[in-house]
Amino acid sequence: MLNSLSLNEELLSAFVRLIAKHSGIEIREREQTALSEKILLRMKAVKLDSPANYYQLLNSSTPNSYKEWKSLMILITNVESFFFRDTDQFALLRDRILPELIQRKQNNKTLRICSAGCSSGEEPYSLAILLKELLPELEQWNLTILGIDINQEALQKAQTGIYRPWSFRRVDVDIIKRYFRVTNNHYHLNPSIMQMVKFQNLNLLENLSNQSNLELREFDLILCRNVFIYFESSAIEKVLNQFYKALQPLGYLITGHAELYGQNLNQFQANVFPESVVYQRIDGDGIDTARRPLHSEANYLPTKNSLWELNQGDLVSALEKSNVKMQQAALNLLKQLPPGTQIPKLGNLTAAELIAQLETALQAINREST
Ligand SMILES: C[S@@+](CC[C@H](N)C(=O)[O-])C[C@H]1O[C@@H](n2cnc3c(N)ncnc32)[C@H](O)[C@@H]1O
Repeated sequence: MLNSLSLNEELLSAFVRLIAKHSGIEIREREQTALSEKILLRMKAVKLDSPANYYQLLNSSTPNSYKEWKSLMILITNVESFFFRDTDQFALLRDRILPELIQRKQNNKTLRICSAGCSSGEEPYSLAILLKELLPELEQWNLTILGIDINQEALQKAQTGIYRPWSFRRVDVDIIKRYFRVTNNHYHLNPSIMQMVKFQNLNLLENLSNQSNLELREFDLILCRNVFIYFESSAIEKVLNQFYKALQPLGYLITGHAELYGQNLNQFQANVFPESVVYQRIDGDGIDTARRPLHSEANYLPTKNSLWELNQGDLVSALEKSNVKMQQAALNLLKQLPPGTQIPKLGNLTAAELIAQLETALQAINREST
């Protein structure tokens, strides 16, 4: 039985800081007992006799340190994932974002997509299935779907393409029939989908800025969902800057809901759809503004620059329209704001108060319509 007390508080805090610096992951107080057990486990595995020596190993820039970080990250990361996770975001991808990209890229037929923090592959493979459905002339396209993750064990699982029923919590039976072969409760992904996705074992915090990695650039779409919830704020900021550089102009970034809360998003335009906020790289370089089809779409609120410069006019006009989709979009917009933000145009109600009102109203509408 490991004794977590053999790691004193000061050293444990130093480990917590080192892990955040290395990976961006913030180990919260309630997780620290489990962390000390993992540290002691790894310390024994590499045959070191004290946590202090193990700290020295991690803090050195040696091949052994590099190797050990990979082993430790397998224990520290949460790799929970499933196919088509977040039905709303996948509906938005299927109905708007991917069709818009396909239309925009008709000329050179090149599409580059990254699933950042892809875990065991459910997310990039779901994207591959969507594209297979949306692109009848798939073989004419130069398609890249890159899954990257710090956890090499998760990536090894991804490369087997074999899943358990738990990975299919919300998946259409038709999709399962078309793309998986089921034997003994194991779901084997169709090789034609597997070959659409490549994987790289990378640390978003360290490797993304590596200019020599030619794969990590000019993305049309980056999905980074359920990753930043584990990150400390300064690490999110660094990764966002790298995402900005890794995106093509007009490229999209989708995160989990409210994962960018409190971040400076000046570099991006936030497109608020009822299903989700979608960030877009907007810059002057050679962009033909006429080629921004999403801007003319109904039921969507573009917010200029950052969410911090919330355009209250947009919010008020969305709320005034008695259209559920617009109200849902307004709700998404409000959820991105600090809860105490007062909205002068709405009688100085705070974002939190407006959210409560809107959610109650939308629930009542839902109840009536069912
Ligand atoms: C909870 S999973 C999310 C998987 C998938 N995106 C989804 O939403 O279902 C988080 C993933 O992020 C990865 N991750 C955490 N920190 C990372 C980092 N610094 N660089 C790359 N991947 C990281 C973890 O290894 C894990 O596989």
